[in-house]
Amino acid sequence: MKKIQVLFVFLLSTVATDAQSLHLGNCPQPPVQEDFNVTEYMGTWYEIEKLPALFERGKCVQATYSPLADGTVRVYNAELLSNGKINSIEGVARVKDPSQPAKLGVSFFKGVPDGPYWVLATDYQSYSLVYSCSDYLRLFHIDFAWILARTRDLPEDLVSRLHDDLAAAGVNVNRLKVTNQTGCDVMI
Ligand SMILES: *[C@@H]1O[C@H](CO)[C@@H](O)[C@H](O)[C@H]1NC(C)=O
Ligand SMILES: *[C@@H]1O[C@H](CO)[C@@H](O)[C@H](O)[C@H]1NC(C)=O
Repeated sequence: MKKIQVLFVFLLSTVATDAQSLHLGNCPQPPVQEDFNVTEYMGTWYEIEKLPALFERGKCVQATYSPLADGTVRVYNAELLSNGKINSIEGVARVKDPSQPAKLGVSFFKGVPDGPYWVLATDYQSYSLVYSCSDYLRLFHIDFAWILARTRDLPEDLVSRLHDDLAAAGVNVNRLKVTNQTGCDVMI
């Protein structure tokens, strides 16, 4: 009973923050990047657009991935808050099944289950399209998506192509929010 209550409190807070990310039915299973090479994916990525996520509320949002000795990946997320402070969080990403290297799991807190991090498409050098979806009680799912880039902006036509990919995955692209990536000089 306790577990269920915790789950509902979590869900209520999520729903209250972003009702549009909750959908009936199970997660879609979009195709992911073929022959994904996690080594080539290392380094810094800047958030261009996202489906609202409650743990990211600043601007200049960026993620830096670096290889760890045990084969997992160090995740360092940073953003600039409106008060001028830099907010950061560290986590670990891992490929959970070597036969599906583009499907990673990311964990920011010890003891908390991984969140999915699926690379739907990337060329490693300019863009990446990331999708994350979790099923709850086999009744509904909550999803997140990110368009990431190696630079703080991406050409319109590329963004529009990634929108098409997301739409094909069943994501309502009208829910995407542009991340402010100007005035980010204080970020490293
Ligand atoms: C992944 O990329 C790295 C760096 O470019 C390369 O050395 C390695 O051979 C690649 N791995 C595979 C399986 O292609
Ligand atoms: C983005 O941030 C810059 C610098 O802080 C600010 O001047 C601009 O108004 C912001 N843009 C949007 C769309 O909020």
